[in-house]
Amino acid sequence: MTTWITICDTCKREDWPERGMQITDGEKLAALVEAEAEGTPVRTRRISCLMGCTHGCNIAVQADGKLNYTLGRFEPTEEAAEAIVAYAALHAESETGQVPFRTWPQGVKGHFVTRHPPLPDAE
Ligand code: FES
Repeated sequence: MTTWITICDTCKREDWPERGMQITDGEKLAALVEAEAEGTPVRTRRISCLMGCTHGCNIAVQADGKLNYTLGRFEPTEEAAEAIVAYAALHAESETGQVPFRTWPQGVKGHFVTRHPPLPDAE
């Protein structure tokens, strides 16, 4: 199953107005993640608001039938984008979506917000 990174493109960090950016922090992070994911098996998409607005930037890592995760508190940097895509690639390789902590890229540590177990098959 394909692992998708969903990036909130409307997230603004607390100091966004003072920084005078023309785009949101989420748009900046989305562009960086998209560029980093090119040529990898991981897919990306943008969505406006993951309902975690107070702790942006937020993303979700998901695949059918696997553990899914929401991560937040990212700054829109290349380092963050690299870590997000590297983690998503490990999620893609994992049968269950669980990635051993010892293999987590440093840049995702401290950013996990929620974990969602896969839905059971409906009967
Ligand atoms: S604006 Fe990004 S979670 Fe709401």
